[in-house]
Amino acid sequence: MNKIDIHITVHEAAHAGELTPLYRALLHEAIRALPASYAPYSQFNVGAAVLLNTADMVCGSNQENAASPAGVCAECAALYNASTRYPQAAVVAVAVVSATGGKLNSAPVYPCGRCRQVLLEYEKRAGNPIAVIMGGSAKIHIVDSVKDLLPLNFELSTL
Ligand code: THU
Repeated sequence: MNKIDIHITVHEAAHAGELTPLYRALLHEAIRALPASYAPYSQFNVGAAVLLNTADMVCGSNQENAASPAGVCAECAALYNASTRYPQAAVVAVAVVSATGGKLNSAPVYPCGRCRQVLLEYEKRAGNPIAVIMGGSAKIHIVDSVKDLLPLNFELSTL
């Protein structure tokens, strides 16, 4: 039997100052989205911002619901918002941050499994890698492609 090793690269920045100006601006957009988060059940606020190939930035935040599966994660809110407003544009990067009690959490927030699958669909639609910038106040992690977050991903393929 063969052994397949899967390797991913995560870039780590100590603070936003180490990011490119564009990624820094996107991260700030994600932070600016936090006050719109509606998270009365988890108290876990998440903000996200999507960068398009048109240079537009579109944000989103988590929107919870008493019937929890009806809630929406911040990444999905931002992606659906971007796709609705700019249907022809390609997504090139997404930034995501979390906060509790009005304070940015120190650890980077990593997209949940469902969001990874949704992000992957946008990456395939775009035909270019989507960088994911996962912010925390203590450090920031970046992957260059959604595929790095979701290796061996599901595809609707019968081949
Ligand atoms: N959440 C997100 O917004 N994005 C993720 O990738 C993971 C989780 C939200 C969903 C819920 O409102 C709260 O965080 C706690 O799970």
